[in-house]
Amino acid sequence: MKVKVSRKAHFNAAHRLYRPDWSFEKNDNVFGLCNNPNFHGHNYELIVSVTGEIDEETGFVIDMKVLKDLIREKIEKQLDHKNLNVEVEWFKTVNPTAENIVVYIWNQLRPFIQASNELEVVLYETPRNYVTFSG
Ligand code: NI
Repeated sequence: MKVKVSRKAHFNAAHRLYRPDWSFEKNDNVFGLCNNPNFHGHNYELIVSVTGEIDEETGFVIDMKVLKDLIREKIEKQLDHKNLNVEVEWFKTVNPTAENIVVYIWNQLRPFIQASNELEVVLYETPRNYVTFSG
């Protein structure tokens, strides 16, 4: 019997979407307002879900406190109030789109989730725009 356990979190971060090998005009056409050279911020909302069998002894799929601490250490401390392009190594060469950020988050968490459990991450860049990655 598998159960999906979810924890919500959030972080604020700035980014700019552009490719240095494209002209400003082409970046502007493709990325619009997100190509602002002075960066801009988003209030990112996150839902991290772990799906697996209920442990017979504890009754947990994953201890919520363990999941909460993991998200704080591996995601919030790394990304909150950061300029993603400038301060997060991965995004110095990868465009910090919602798609790439959700993959980054999944990769940061996956090693710490029991191998037999599934991990899914949903990332909201705005209340209406969100992406999902589950490996
Ligand atoms: Ni943006």
